[in-house]
Amino acid sequence: MKISIEDVSFLLALASLLSTLKISSTIDTINTTQILRDGESLVSSGGVFALGFFSPGNSTNRYVGIWYNNTPGKSVVWVANREIPLTSISGILKIIEPGILVLQNDTNNIIWCSKMTRVAQSPIVQLLDSGNLVLREANDDDPENFLWQSFNYLSDTFLPSMNFGWNYATGRESYLSSWKSKDDPAPGNFTLHLDPTGYPQLLIKRGNFTMYRMGNWNGVRFSGETDVRGKRSLYGLVIMNKNKTYYREDIVDRSVKSRITLSQNGVWQRWSWVDGIQEWVRYQVLPSDFCDAYSSCGAYSSCKITLTPTCSCLRGFEPKDPYVWNMNDWSNGCIRRNHLNCKGDAFWRYSRIKLPDSRYSWFMESMTLEECKVECLKNCSCMAYTQLDISRERGGCLFRYDLRDVREIPFDGQDIHIRMAGSELGNNTNKMVPSELDNNTNKRAVDSKGKRRKNIDNEFDIIDGSCSARHELDAILLQEGEECSKGENRRKY
Ligand SMILES: *[C@@H]1O[C@H](CO)[C@@H](O)[C@H](O)[C@H]1NC(C)=O
Ligand SMILES: *[C@@H]1O[C@H](CO)[C@@H](O)[C@H](O)[C@H]1NC(C)=O
Ligand SMILES: *[C@@H]1O[C@H](CO)[C@@H](O)[C@H](O)[C@H]1NC(C)=O
Ligand SMILES: *[C@@H]1O[C@H](CO)[C@@H](O)[C@H](O)[C@H]1NC(C)=O
Ligand SMILES: *[C@@H]1O[C@H](CO)[C@@H](O)[C@H](O)[C@H]1NC(C)=O
Ligand SMILES: *[C@@H]1O[C@H](CO)[C@@H](O)[C@H](O)[C@H]1NC(C)=O
Ligand SMILES: *[C@@H]1O[C@H](CO)[C@@H](O)[C@H](O)[C@H]1NC(C)=O
Ligand SMILES: *[C@@H]1O[C@H](CO)[C@@H](O)[C@H](O)[C@H]1NC(C)=O
Ligand SMILES: *[C@@H]1O[C@H](CO)[C@@H](O)[C@H](O)[C@H]1NC(C)=O
Repeated sequence: MKISIEDVSFLLALASLLSTLKISSTIDTINTTQILRDGESLVSSGGVFALGFFSPGNSTNRYVGIWYNNTPGKSVVWVANREIPLTSISGILKIIEPGILVLQNDTNNIIWCSKMTRVAQSPIVQLLDSGNLVLREANDDDPENFLWQSFNYLSDTFLPSMNFGWNYATGRESYLSSWKSKDDPAPGNFTLHLDPTGYPQLLIKRGNFTMYRMGNWNGVRFSGETDVRGKRSLYGLVIMNKNKTYYREDIVDRSVKSRITLSQNGVWQRWSWVDGIQEWVRYQVLPSDFCDAYSSCGAYSSCKITLTPTCSCLRGFEPKDPYVWNMNDWSNGCIRRNHLNCKGDAFWRYSRIKLPDSRYSWFMESMTLEECKVECLKNCSCMAYTQLDISRERGGCLFRYDLRDVREIPFDGQDIHIRMAGSELGNNTNKMVPSELDNNTNKRAVDSKGKRRKNIDNEFDIIDGSCSARHELDAILLQEGEECSKGENRRKY
């Protein structure tokens, strides 16, 4: 069969006609005279998200939810009636006066509704391309004036441009809660929170128990994760002021699809849609090992997954209960060998560390690391200091009055400076030779091999060890990749 130019242009015209029909038949809003029935859907204007009725997994119950519109396998990002399913396909979604979105079952009972904030004149509901379902005045699309939005009532999925955390004005927290199972979107046993105590950090909890801590926000990432955002054109941000504390992620490239879910087993999973293979690829999974389990090694100790035993006391500390410690029950942690006497204390710096639980911390902004040290020395409760925001030179300080849940991480770990009795130093280090001190206290001196070798006044790097049998120390004394040649004393202060 021969296809003429006319045939081709006819086919093209038909195709474009069909595609217009398709687009014009989808809507992204409903108003008070419209009803959304099971089988119908809203599609956001750019076609990214859809809202409609669905049955999860093998369940026959019906739920109203939001999912990605054009990706195979329904990835549901939000569910309205999580706890009360519809049992038939005759549910309807509509807006009632004076501005409430309601879901009714076939006996017209309201089984779910949005929270009313104020009376609306002409309310509409719109599904946005961000995945946010908003209730607003028809003539006012200013986000500040939304009457209600699904982004304030999260399910198990965190999406770019959501504000995740605390709104003190309303007293509300936005947090994720796992599904009970693949068949049941009701809240399960796990939740993910931005905990603002001390300094904001992400926590995965089971009931009241902390299961995993991603660590405090350090201006670039959470302290316990390797940086995955940069490579995926995402950037994160923690906002803290009198009215709110929240975490938010934004996408630089709008065509990128990215989401974070909290699995039914309490695991943080970060996904990215890959067009080439038409699949969601999971590229961040936390917690990932024993050292990620909250406080596996107790207080004042460090967890290193490649080491046996996995837990070791920080230098200058010893097991609180040596008997159980030696039986590999590390939960009691460690205590100081020599008490601090507050005056004449010094610091040891550990590198590649997931910083300790920031619920036991306080902070000061816009200070240099040297100023942090001075400030920490002034307060006898200050057990350690770190840089608050690693993206800036005057990044401020995060001070700790307790050290829990410390681990080593091979990539992107941070420095922490831990306070020690001056007497501890006498035992473990040669005295510093003053002439060797760097005048510029903010810069670390580097020896000919490029290794950091000494540090600012009354501060010592934990990088070289005597490579002796002090097993528990070597864990932290040796940096990754440094070789431990037997008997060699590589201290270079
Ligand atoms: C709702 O939208 C429909 C379709 O655009 C329109 O015909 C109707 O007048 C609208 N109702 C109100 C109350 O605005
Ligand atoms: C649904 O049930 C089938 C058969 O019992 C099972 O193989 C499948 O994994 C189930 N799917 C989900 C999502 O639970
Ligand atoms: C509709 O919801 C009401 C209230 O939850 C419930 O009592 C009733 O049984 C439901 N009707 C059906 C058909 O599920
Ligand atoms: C939640 O925890 C309880 C108590 O441990 C357990 O019985 C239940 O099966 C768990 N639920 C899910 C969905 O895992
Ligand atoms: C969690 O803690 C709160 C406040 O301390 C308490 O009211 C609640 O009963 C606790 N819940 C559980 C499951 O222990
Ligand atoms: C906090 O909210 C109040 C009242 O809405 C507002 O006036 C003030 O500017 C807000 N402060 C900040 C830091 O956003
Ligand atoms: C030390 O810091 C703690 C925590 O911020 C504070 O409660 C305490 O008052 C401070 N002590 C002194 C002497 O400044
Ligand atoms: C030095 O170390 C030894 C053995 O480890 C210990 O007995 C002694 O108390 C330590 N001295 C000081 C000043 O810490
Ligand atoms: C250190 O700084 C002081 C004053 O800034 C200067 O007098 C001294 O020569 C410097 N010492 C060295 C070793 O650079």
